[in-house]
Amino acid sequence: MAKILLLNGPNLNLLGEREPDIYGKATLSDIEADVRKVVEQAGHALFSFQSNHEGQLVEWLQQNRDARFALVNAASLTHTSIALRDSLSLTKIPFIEVHLSNVYKREAFRHQSYLADIAVGVVAGLGAAGYSFAARYAVDHLAKD
Ligand code: DQA
Repeated sequence: MAKILLLNGPNLNLLGEREPDIYGKATLSDIEADVRKVVEQAGHALFSFQSNHEGQLVEWLQQNRDARFALVNAASLTHTSIALRDSLSLTKIPFIEVHLSNVYKREAFRHQSYLADIAVGVVAGLGAAGYSFAARYAVDHLAKD
């Protein structure tokens, strides 16, 4: 049994009510339940955390650095945070960068990611389903290990 992380950054606690035309109607609890199902059916354990504070995300990652895989939607911090990049880098946890929206169709400042080049892969624009697809990849990847 492996520990898999689901990490969500600023403003994702308001999914469902936050700009549903961009981010969809699913709440963070809906997304977490979908991911948990995939992870637990494969016999692994999901640890999930959301924060609006960069330092709390960094600390949580450090505390959970024994995890074997992570799904990370760092939200706006994707485009700004060297601290979060460094945490992901030092923990050496393989991770998938997830975005609900297709950030490449949006403002230019969202095209920059401090995480993508150290991620296993990036899923963007598939809405809440993107998290489930990423979770499916994570459990398949761990089965091959
Ligand atoms: C987001 C895209 C980011 O640019 C934005 O700041 C978010 C959400 C997404 O899931 O589409 O907060 O990560």
